[in-house]
Amino acid sequence: MPVDLRSFEQEARAAIEAAADGRALNDVRVRYLGRKGVLQELMGRIPALPLEERRGFGAAVNGLKKALEEAIETKGRAFEGQTDGRVLDVTLPGLRPLTGRRHPLMQVEQEICAIFGRLGLKVFRGPEVETEFNNFEALNIPLEHPSRDAFDTFYIKTPDKGRKLLLRSHTSPSQIRALKQCPPPMAVVVPGRVYRPDAVDASHSFMFHQVEGLAVDTDIRFSDLKGVLIAFAAEMFGAGTKLRFRPSFFPFTEPSAEVDVSCFICGAKGCSVCKQSGWLEILGCGMVHPHVLRSAGVDPRRWRGYAFGMGVERIAMLKYGIHDIRLFFENDLRLLEQF
Ligand code: DAH
Repeated sequence: MPVDLRSFEQEARAAIEAAADGRALNDVRVRYLGRKGVLQELMGRIPALPLEERRGFGAAVNGLKKALEEAIETKGRAFEGQTDGRVLDVTLPGLRPLTGRRHPLMQVEQEICAIFGRLGLKVFRGPEVETEFNNFEALNIPLEHPSRDAFDTFYIKTPDKGRKLLLRSHTSPSQIRALKQCPPPMAVVVPGRVYRPDAVDASHSFMFHQVEGLAVDTDIRFSDLKGVLIAFAAEMFGAGTKLRFRPSFFPFTEPSAEVDVSCFICGAKGCSVCKQSGWLEILGCGMVHPHVLRSAGVDPRRWRGYAFGMGVERIAMLKYGIHDIRLFFENDLRLLEQF
């Protein structure tokens, strides 16, 4: 039975012509050129044809296939850029890109440094890998000093036996570097990481952050230290924050004090954070010990200074009511996204 390909062609071309959009045109393409389409079906008839007709018929179907492909492609170009009825609504809110932010500890560290910056103390940075000398001896902590036990750890192997290196256990060794690099009169804050052999729990971490302060001039007095810390506390914890200086001991300051701020959580009435005392301890401080000045090549008969040191985690925990130091280091977005 001879097959009239021309009627198929006419029908197909009419369907292509009638397609009103890209989707309709694709339906036509599938109907004629698809795997189960009309042309495949025509090809399937070949084995049933008399031998002498097969070759001619196959070639004719192939020719039709090419012609329809071309016609569909030509028609398709007319639809390019059309959206099949889907309209781009430019008033819809866009997809907000995920932006990062500073870690809460770095925000607090920055705030501390900014407050002291306004009081005239410049930021100085010392290395986390320090000499044993700067970390201890220069700060008047000799080898046999008991406070060294709490600090003594994380030594670093060096080929030079005489020069022992360690991860600094406080930011105080940067006092020595700051004094050598910025001869007095000078005033600096040193923010940075410190390391201790502490077992990790809710209030201890083997790594944490401190901000050290140091000012050296010819006529620095304890009252300068008080003034700077009172101004700091007012900005950091709110106007009207009271300070309490308790006599204390640090090898690198004389006299030394520990400083408490009036509890800004309960208004000093007594709560669980201040343990009903109305006070929160925030830092250690004092007048720079002559030994420290001498270690840095500064003459203690001419120069005097004050120093202080505070823990960034502690301040951040108090300020934001965070009860576990480990939360800072877990990278849990549920915490970090709140800052
Ligand atoms: N370095 C001390 C510590 O890590 C903190 C400190 C206390 C620093 C008194 C000072 C200071 O500069 O005067 O515990």
